[in-house]
Amino acid sequence: MNFERKILITGGAGFIGSHVVRRFVQNYPQYLIVNLDKLTYAGNLENLRDVEGAPNYQFIKGDICDAATMDQVFSEHQIDGVIHLAAESHVDRSITNPMAFVETNVIGTVTLLNVAKSHWSDFKGKRFYHVSTDEVYGSLGDTGLFTETTPYDPKSPYSASKAASDHFVRAYQNTYGLPTVISNCSNNYGSYHFPEKLIPLTINNIRNNKQIPVYGKGENIRDWLFVEDHARAIDVIFHKGAEGDTYNIGGFNEWKNIDLVNLLCDILDKKLDREEGTSRKLITYVKDRAGHDMRYAIDATKLKNELGWEPSLQFEEGLEKTVDWYLSNEKWLEDVTSGDYQNYYKEHYQS
Ligand code: NAD
Ligand code: TYD
Repeated sequence: MNFERKILITGGAGFIGSHVVRRFVQNYPQYLIVNLDKLTYAGNLENLRDVEGAPNYQFIKGDICDAATMDQVFSEHQIDGVIHLAAESHVDRSITNPMAFVETNVIGTVTLLNVAKSHWSDFKGKRFYHVSTDEVYGSLGDTGLFTETTPYDPKSPYSASKAASDHFVRAYQNTYGLPTVISNCSNNYGSYHFPEKLIPLTINNIRNNKQIPVYGKGENIRDWLFVEDHARAIDVIFHKGAEGDTYNIGGFNEWKNIDLVNLLCDILDKKLDREEGTSRKLITYVKDRAGHDMRYAIDATKLKNELGWEPSLQFEEGLEKTVDWYLSNEKWLEDVTSGDYQNYYKEHYQS
């Protein structure tokens, strides 16, 4: 089949990547979508069962740090667009094992940039889209929002590795003219989210009547965005974003961790027919994360004004949808929390 575009999506078996892959496979049958993923603990092909048989979809198990494999993928599929999401993504794991973050997030990204540069002798019609995080901007006090011109000030090994990768992407645009675009997004939530992150972990623990670990005093603030809204923003930026530009993506939706956890407890009490207040009793304040960023908040005005994107869902509605998804996908939850997850959980929360 003659495809109009041949797009490589990296990290497509992960949380956000699977939503991006699904959206592109379903909305653009004229594009070939090649999903390359190493299938680390965070990658899971179950996330993509509904599209795996589509004629415009191909999966490749591979590592973005492996230049020879990446080279072969570009040659074989004549890749003309990249949407790069593959990463180590969990701040807590970056504190215990920073090298894994340097390897995939920095070396992996530069490997991919090099392969794209060497294959795209003509940059016309090509695009390298790098998906990044608002955590590169550091931590806010009580006021203010991150804009696209906020200076980088990453504070965790995770955010330092993402900041380094963002700098390399801009350096390749500036030095070699590689056509790139970057977006920096706030915290996502929704289906297929691995239950080491706050929202799915809280849902899973309530479901199992297990303690809900809240770091420090629970006063840290995050700006939450529904993952399908992020996937839609990525679609818009991939197609219409200006070359070499950066777009912030966020929900204008700030929540203190403890308020969010309380809300989830109340939603789950209702859904599970438990007496009001039952789940809140599971909340346990635990040792704070080292170097814990206080507040993130994104100003997504540029994306709205220039490309017309806005979040579509109210938070309460998105959370209800998310809780419903987890409650009706218990097998998925059981599968991803068996094996290594138990060791991670014990080491992280019970040591
Ligand atoms: P995730 O951890 O759920 O998924 C990451 C995926 O990358 C997994 O499928 C994993 O197998 C794959 N992967 C890891 N190392 C790889 C390698 N060396 N080669 C190939 N594949 C590899 O992460 P996510 O939450 O879906 O995040 C996706 C991207 O979005 C990341 O770049 C992250 O920095 C960024 N981001 C995430 C959030 C968030 O709230 N989760 C917010 C903003 C930006
Ligand atoms: P997380 O979901 O890990 O995302 P990030 O660190 O990238 O923002 O954490 C969200 C917030 O929740 C953060 O302030 C840390 C806090 N948190 C807890 O209080 N308890 C937990 O068990 C986890 C995983 C996170």
